[in-house]
Amino acid sequence: YSLKAHNTFGIDVNTKYFTSIKSEDQLPLLIETPIYENAKILILGSGSNILFTKKFEGLVIKNDIQGIHEEVIGDDVFITVGGGMIWNDFVQYCVKNSYGGVENLSLIPGTVGASPVQNIGAYGVEISDVLFSCKAFDFKTGLFYEFTNEECEFGYRDSIFKNKAKGRYMIVSVTYKLTKQPVFKISYGAIREELDRMGIETPTIKAISDAVSTIRVNKLPDPSTIGNAGSFFKNPIISKIEFDELIFKFPEMVHYPAGNASYKIAAGWLIEQAGFKGIKIGESGTWKNQALVLVNYGNASGVELYNFSERIIEEVQIKFNIKLEREVNIF
Ligand code: EPU
Repeated sequence: YSLKAHNTFGIDVNTKYFTSIKSEDQLPLLIETPIYENAKILILGSGSNILFTKKFEGLVIKNDIQGIHEEVIGDDVFITVGGGMIWNDFVQYCVKNSYGGVENLSLIPGTVGASPVQNIGAYGVEISDVLFSCKAFDFKTGLFYEFTNEECEFGYRDSIFKNKAKGRYMIVSVTYKLTKQPVFKISYGAIREELDRMGIETPTIKAISDAVSTIRVNKLPDPSTIGNAGSFFKNPIISKIEFDELIFKFPEMVHYPAGNASYKIAAGWLIEQAGFKGIKIGESGTWKNQALVLVNYGNASGVELYNFSERIIEEVQIKFNIKLEREVNIF
């Protein structure tokens, strides 16, 4: 069974078995089946943060659990969403109902169930800011478990689901705590500029969602036409000592203070300076408007893209002595 339509890089690899889960009740039944008992498993949402480099000799379980349920308590809105729902459909539902909290996260590819896994974030907001809890099926015990925000162990593009709980759970639903009285986060220059361009003086949930969507459309390739998985690397965090040395040599280096005497460096800038912006080698390359995004210009294989990412890591390391870490999962 080909996974080409199930990963946004559009890599044509096969899996031995494939199943799609539409309701959480199917999971306890699935683990009783002989195929499950004998196969390795891989949980997939819409495959927007994974690079396949080889055939999967096991069972891919696609999360297709839909549904929205909400409970309003005063100004708070507790909204529970099926893990298989497309993330941006959920954001647009919130925009339509004037529930604030996720408007800065408009147009991020992927599903609701994947949102806590790498703690998706953009324009000053991360899922950890609005996640109340998430319910997961534990393949180890065959039981459901509700994780609190704290138990998710969120970090920058990181959570327990990428670390010690990797591969163990499927997130069947997420409960977000949103609000009818939002305090807007528009400190990002790009958002303010776009709101100005739109002629908006008093921001609204809808205006911010529209502004973020415009910024993303202009800056990032659309995965439905050009294979990509968003930022391929994380923005590296370096110590003050390393930073002082680098900023002396490269005064233009784009950076943000990251607390604890450390600095976050824009990986896109590093990659661009290393000469990789908008280039194409074979069928792999980086995006013309954002060097942090690796793209599949045609029929690149996963291995080709992976090797290309290795070259970027090497060149950035040589030029800046910084080791980039991949944000995308490599299979
Ligand atoms: N820059 C360059 N050259 C480039 C790209 C970026 O010089 O080719 C510099 C520019 O100065 C730019 C700065 O880097 O102002 C930051 O770029 P951008 O605003 O695009 O943000 P980013 O740090 O590259 C992060 C997230 C994105 C998220 C944006 C906006 C990570 C790994 N990526 O990118 O998330 O949309 O901030 O908040 O943290 C994703 O994870 O897939 C993703 C797209």
